[in-house]
Amino acid sequence: MNATEQPREILLTGATGCIGGRLLAALEAHGRPVRCMTRRPAALNGRVGPHTSVVRGDCLDPISLPGALAGIDTACYLVHSMGGTADFEAQDRIAASNFGTAARAAGVRRLVYVGGLGSAAGLSRHLRSRHETGAVLRESGVPVVELRSGIVIGAGSLSFELIRALVERLPVMICPSWVRTPTQPIALADLVAYLVAVLDLPHGDSRVFEVGGADVVSYGEIMREYARQRGLRRRLIPVPLLTPRLSSLWLGLTTPVYARVGRELVDGLRTATVVRDDAARNAFAFRPLGLRQAIARAQEEEDAAFVAGPWSEARVAAGTALRWGGVRIRTRLIHSCAVDLPVAPAAAFAPIRRIGGANGWYYGDWMWRLRGFVDRLIGGGGMKRGPRGAPHPAPGGGLGCRGGGGRRSGGVGMNRGRRDAEHLAAGDVVDCWRVDACEPDASLRLAAEMKVPGRAWLQFDVAPRDGGGSTVRQTAVFDPAGLLGRCYWHALYPVHVLLFEGLLRSIARRAVGAPLVPESRPAP
Ligand SMILES: NC(=O)c1ccc[n+]([C@@H]2O[C@H](COP(=O)([O-])OP(=O)(O)OC[C@H]3O[C@@H](n4cnc5c(N)ncnc54)[C@H](OP(=O)(O)O)[C@@H]3O)[C@@H](O)[C@H]2O)c1
Repeated sequence: MNATEQPREILLTGATGCIGGRLLAALEAHGRPVRCMTRRPAALNGRVGPHTSVVRGDCLDPISLPGALAGIDTACYLVHSMGGTADFEAQDRIAASNFGTAARAAGVRRLVYVGGLGSAAGLSRHLRSRHETGAVLRESGVPVVELRSGIVIGAGSLSFELIRALVERLPVMICPSWVRTPTQPIALADLVAYLVAVLDLPHGDSRVFEVGGADVVSYGEIMREYARQRGLRRRLIPVPLLTPRLSSLWLGLTTPVYARVGRELVDGLRTATVVRDDAARNAFAFRPLGLRQAIARAQEEEDAAFVAGPWSEARVAAGTALRWGGVRIRTRLIHSCAVDLPVAPAAAFAPIRRIGGANGWYYGDWMWRLRGFVDRLIGGGGMKRGPRGAPHPAPGGGLGCRGGGGRRSGGVGMNRGRRDAEHLAAGDVVDCWRVDACEPDASLRLAAEMKVPGRAWLQFDVAPRDGGGSTVRQTAVFDPAGLLGRCYWHALYPVHVLLFEGLLRSIARRAVGAPLVPESRPAP
């Protein structure tokens, strides 16, 4: 390509999926034009940048492919059929064959595919199908760069979600021998970095790169490390007799959401999935993360994504379904309510920015104090109305800041309250909370520092209304750690609802400066 030539669009399949979604964000960040091909274009509404186009295409529908592939130089094939109900091996074979044939006819010069690690002998149906898909794509005659990867550590990755579901639900796990099978998990961000780097390789013959993270570990170690980072005590009891078949049935009982897919994945756990050749290490300059950093990073990225995207969707969704336990989005449990006020956002926000410390919590103050007392008893931060000018600790670091979940073994034992009765900034302490983010007259997010079995946030958003006035939305979000966390949320749900809705009513009264019966109502 010369300097005046426009870079050509990269065709990305699987952009609605875990790896494709992250690759899309990375390509957009690198300024590369992308054409996403999906069976569900609506799923990408509002999720693509200005230089990305979306076309409808289905690898099982050959007629839909020539248009999607027209003018394409490089296509990323991040498709698999395990989420469907049909025979995924047969479907994946047909899908890859259709795509390869259409790519060849369209003059595509390179296909990039993510397959699975594992040697050829005794592979599970799932791993066999991953290898077969690579082979079928190569049969098209278009050069294929295949990245063979082990379990991908990142939100939305089926294998990681399965591990997460097991560890979050089960305090004691009866584990068959597969928990000792070696594997080389890779952080989602590292796999995406490899994919981006592959796009810059000079064109040539088909190649296979085995990619993995820095650590070779067992599945048991992945579970233990995940539990450790979530502050969960988990016991893995190895038993010699539980076959993958039996354990997959048991998996269906304990994690029904992942039952069918989980069975196929578990069946693959008996095969070692580790990097056997150094080609990727030699071809690409960067060094991938180890297990510990990969899991920590997955958590951080999930927190950041929740704030940037589904957090706001969550607020709306939560408002439309006022049912027991609130709304659940991924691992988070949410309660949200709103009130319309006849005052400008600055006036509506005033009582919000003054909350806590010497100003109190406006409603059920004794309950907040009781909560603080309990917290001090069990070693948390406590709710003490401290003097102005109390110590101002360093910012808590966004959503990753401490919030119980066993991350903190003792109390922070400091004189809480708030630094300034009028103004708040990120990092400020407000009694049992710490300010995560504060946008003047618009939003305040508090992260809980009291002892809770999980992580909790309280968010206030103020938005102007058409025709004057403003809407105040208050959202409580809880990320429960294990069963205890879920029990805590559900058992205290009525109390929390009483407290949070009372708080919103009191904020409303203070904002308008007169008694007001607020309307707690769903979002439009
Ligand atoms: N996650 C892991 O741990 C892991 C590990 C090793 C390898 N891999 C491989 O990496 C690739 C991507 O995995 P992922 O975890 O990102 O998968 P994913 O989240 O389950 O996404 C699968 C994608 O496949 C697309 N798709 C399915 N059938 C299709 C069809 N007939 N036509 C067009 N698109 C179709 C879906 O797009 P639409 O529904 O929008 O059409 C969806 O975006 C797969 O090949 C997988 O085997 C994953």
